[in-house]
Parts: sequence; structure tokens; C-alpha cells
Amino acid sequence: MEQVKAQDLKRIAGIAAADATVESGMRIGMGTGSTARFAIHRIAERIAAGELTGIAVVASSSQAAEECYAVGLSVLALEDPRIGGELDLVIDGADEVDTAGRVTKGGGAALLREKVMAYAASQVAIVVTRDKHVPDLGLTFPVPVEVVPFAAYTVRVALERYGFSVTTRTGSGKMGPLVTDNGNVILDVVFGEPQDVALLESELVEIPGVVEVGLFTRRTFDFFTVEPDGSVALP
Ligand code: A5P
Repeated sequence: MEQVKAQDLKRIAGIAAADATVESGMRIGMGTGSTARFAIHRIAERIAAGELTGIAVVASSSQAAEECYAVGLSVLALEDPRIGGELDLVIDGADEVDTAGRVTKGGGAALLREKVMAYAASQVAIVVTRDKHVPDLGLTFPVPVEVVPFAAYTVRVALERYGFSVTTRTGSGKMGPLVTDNGNVILDVVFGEPQDVALLESELVEIPGVVEVGLFTRRTFDFFTVEPDGSVALP
């Protein structure tokens, strides 16, 4: 079987989702990351080619907004009248996908806005490479927990009481903790053993100071998973 380069696999997944899901007139939430960016580029290409009209766009992060601006797409706020607080479609990446179709997100620290958009959307397309599919979430790739800075230590202690391994995510190009687009910090959590992730998604946000957790268990997704040979089965 021919192996396709990692970057090309991401491009194939992003293009497949942008071609299969986007229609004229849609309000679209643009995801964050190295795979979702290819969907942003493809949507812009389709608009430029006259295939799509009336597309309105919201970005899930400063990175997604920059990708949009770079290809000539204006970015609207969720409260803009052209969006009205609801989206027809989100196209986004993921860090892990379990066998029940639940996902971990936030490897790019954009989990809060990504979750707001995902739960405000009629359809969410997730673009991933096959290696993102795992039996259980949170055993290898950490589950991020976004926390207000004042509570970072108390939340860390609470998470460690579960028996989880917790690391404060550091910034690149700066000393000390990473600061999210929302002014918060990220605690990266590895579980050690399989968890009831649906319960954890609800439970962890109950800890005072936790803003959001990167487990997405309460909605369905359409997966565009690219195989190592570059093929993508449409959902
Ligand atoms: C951003 O915070 C994340 O949720 C990304 O969507 C996720 O990390 C996947 O990114 P890649 O497509 O770059 O792997």
C-alpha cells in the first residue's frame, strides 16, 4: 500500500470535508489546527471559483481567523446578524476519536470556542487521519482542561485526586504557562486507565474555576477520516 505524506493526508481530509458538506448560504464555524486549515483554504477556493455564494464565517481561534483572513474570508462574531448565534456547519480537527465517536479536542488550546461552536451547529464534520482513532480517550493524548488562572492550582489538586497525571501547558516563545485566546491556562490531563468520559465531561466543569474540558461526548459528528493510502470514506 502506498504511504501518503502526513501533510498530504491532512490536506485530503480537509478538502474532502469542504467539498462534501459546504453549500451556498451556509453559516460555517471554522476549526483550528493543521487539518482544519485545509478546509478553510478549500472553501475560499470554491468561493473564488464561483461554486459557493453567501457563505458567512466564524473562527474558533486567532489561528483560524488568521487562516481565514489569509485567503480573503471575513470573520464574523457569533452575534453578527448574519450568524444569529447558530451555525449550519462546523469543520474541525480532533486529537483523538474513540470507538463510540466521541472526541478529544484542544491540542491547539482552542477547545472552549470549538465547543461553543460545535454545540451551536446543526452539523459538525471532523477531519482526522486514521491514527487519531483510539480505543479510549485520554490514555495517550492529554485531555485539556481550560481553567481561569486564579484557580489553576486548586483545579490541579482536584484533578490529581482522581489519580490523573496533570501538566500545566507551557507557551512556545514565552516562559511560563500558555495563555489561551480567552486569557486562561490549560491543564493537560492523562487518565492512566479508561474513564467514563461522558460523566467526566459533566463532572470536571463542576470544579470551580474550570471553564471547559476538551472532551466532546454530547453530540454526533460526521467523520472524514483519511487512511494512510489517502482514501477517505464519506460519512
Ligand atoms: C485545536 O484546539 C484542536 O482541537 C485541533 O482541532 C486539534 O488539536 C487537531 O489539530 P490537528 O489537525 O493539527 O492535529
